[in-house]
Amino acid sequence: MSMPTPLRFPPGFVWGASTSAYQIEGAVKEDGRGESVWDTFSRTPGRTRNGDTGDVAADHYRRYREDLDLMRDLGLGSYRFSIAWPRIQPDGTGAPNQRGLDFYRRLVDGLHERGIAPMATLFHWDLPQTLQDAGGWESRDTAYRFADYAEKVFRALGDRVPVWLTINEPKTVVQNGYLSGHHAPGRQDPEAAYLVAHHLQLAHGLAVRALRATGPGRIGPALNLHPCYPADDSPEAAAAARLYDGYENRLYLDSVFAGRYPQDVLADLGPQSRMVQGIADGDLEIISSPIDILAVQYYTPIYVTAGGGTARRWPTSEADWQQIYPQGMYDILTRVTRDYGPVPLTVTENGLPTADSLNADGTVDDAGRVAFLRDHLAAAHRAVTAGVPLESFHVWSLLDNFEWDEGYDQRWGLVYVDYATQRRILKRSAHWYRAVIADNGF
Ligand code: NOJ
Repeated sequence: MSMPTPLRFPPGFVWGASTSAYQIEGAVKEDGRGESVWDTFSRTPGRTRNGDTGDVAADHYRRYREDLDLMRDLGLGSYRFSIAWPRIQPDGTGAPNQRGLDFYRRLVDGLHERGIAPMATLFHWDLPQTLQDAGGWESRDTAYRFADYAEKVFRALGDRVPVWLTINEPKTVVQNGYLSGHHAPGRQDPEAAYLVAHHLQLAHGLAVRALRATGPGRIGPALNLHPCYPADDSPEAAAAARLYDGYENRLYLDSVFAGRYPQDVLADLGPQSRMVQGIADGDLEIISSPIDILAVQYYTPIYVTAGGGTARRWPTSEADWQQIYPQGMYDILTRVTRDYGPVPLTVTENGLPTADSLNADGTVDDAGRVAFLRDHLAAAHRAVTAGVPLESFHVWSLLDNFEWDEGYDQRWGLVYVDYATQRRILKRSAHWYRAVIADNGF
């Protein structure tokens, strides 16, 4: 019997974990924080499972030191978190709130003290409510407000944060916030949705330029990419999958890398659509300002039927939208490198929700998460072997947290959070990941 060959990542490969502000911080009234669209949305009856809100979440705002120690114990080399815009500009404009900046400065300093590289996302969906009241991402002005906020953050933290991510998953804001409406601000308006897409892309480009004007640091977008496969062998399914890919992936990639939106998507939206009408001269130049790194988030493939619908091919997880297909990780990483590279890549999210519970002996046995991560990392490793310049990998998520409309029922963490006591318990996957980090593979 031969032993399976151990899988080793290249020397210097960085292992990390991800979180976002509203999902873990709680302390929504602390230190002058303003309200965001997610405060409003989660407090609206019927919007989230069990009426859950981020009011307390994992109480990270108060327990961040303990969480930093946890990260050090796991051996993390990178921690990707997000900065809450309403902590920095409670009303979305004007002078920065020093107490808000100070929290992130303490966090970033605490990371450096523990030898962990900070990776900061500027926008992970918590738009100041005041800006939403003024039109939110439907308003072009919000993109300029975002650039102003970004500049203030760069000035305060730019010397200590080596990698910045602009907008987390613009597509999710478009699709969940403005098409299905199951995320804030809860709209169902396709015309608005794609205008929002354009303004999010514009905001991204303006923030890239703001960083160049303020100082050092690398920057890029954080895109959730979905490999789109035809559900059958028909030419109709192939064509439908191609257009689907335009909406899922090329809309965000082509605009950033090539300075144009995909023709098939523009044609499908139509010349009179609010999005097409909303593209001003020079916008695509701004959007395609050169980036330093592309952050890829991979969870699931999409199978597209001849009629343009979707089909299910693989087992789904506790999240009904997620089919478990590790090869999709390989496919998406090699595809972005082939079509848009060479550009350094980081995986900023990959993970699985499982129905975790605390055993009587104090353990949490999330074997499913271990298998999921092992298989997806093996696929990422194959991509690296095929020449993909992947420099780091971040698990979603470090901690169990507020999973948006799903509230606290869906647990995505390496670390279990007992919400009654806020005690953190390393799941089996956390122990496994610590060994992977120590061995730079498995
Ligand atoms: C993507 C999002 O960025 C994150 O906020 C969310 O919790 C995970 N995916 C899991 O759905």
